[in-house]
Amino acid sequence: MKHIHLSNIDSTNAYLKRNYKELDNYTFVSSDSQDKGRGRNNREWKSENGKNLLFSLLILDQELINQFKELSILTAYSIIKVLEKMNIKGLSIKWPNDIYVNDKKICGILLEAVTTDKTDCLIIGVGLNVNQKEFVGDYLTPPTSLINILVNSIDTNVLQNAIFNELVENFEFLKAGHSYIEEIKAYDYLRGMSAYALIDNIKTPIDIIGIDDDYSLRVNKNNEIINLEAGEISFHI
Ligand code: BTN
Repeated sequence: MKHIHLSNIDSTNAYLKRNYKELDNYTFVSSDSQDKGRGRNNREWKSENGKNLLFSLLILDQELINQFKELSILTAYSIIKVLEKMNIKGLSIKWPNDIYVNDKKICGILLEAVTTDKTDCLIIGVGLNVNQKEFVGDYLTPPTSLINILVNSIDTNVLQNAIFNELVENFEFLKAGHSYIEEIKAYDYLRGMSAYALIDNIKTPIDIIGIDDDYSLRVNKNNEIINLEAGEISFHI
């Protein structure tokens, strides 16, 4: 395991995409700032210099790569477990992998795969808002940060190490056959909500049943029960 800390980079995910061939499983890359931080759907991920956690974890282990569906949601769950120890309340997972505090987003996760003739690696990128107080600009969901909840500023290094240790421990447990699905279901933000999903580019009303055993989202669409895979839809609640 190796931790690389950078003061500035285009994107920690992009750094691992360029360098994964020379790096070990569980290499952890963090940065104080990113010039081209990206979220899902190629959206920009903005963060004030040095205030938040911006990091990516490299997964080269083939057994874990095969469990990619679990990994992104287990990342969200692992971070929640660390934040709960800091006495943060109202935490939930907005499927597939955002972390909310009540109705505000505190953390985003971007899981990317590098594929040649097979999947060479997974890169799990995490942006967790820590010491940034104000968020100016357009956001799909109103953001919040730990300092806005706890008032006192937080040592990002201590928090980062705690998250890294929790992630590796839970990933190793997953590999050993432990299932986190029931624990994850307890944090399901969308369960029971009505929403619009963009399915095949058509805005469709759905009633959400909740996260299913295979980590897909079970929904009722015009009285038909279907399961949606991450990446298939975007939401409008
Ligand atoms: C999302 O909510 O859309 C996912 C956001 C992921 C942001 C993190 S910050 C560290 C890593 N590097 C990136 O460019 N993106 C991820």
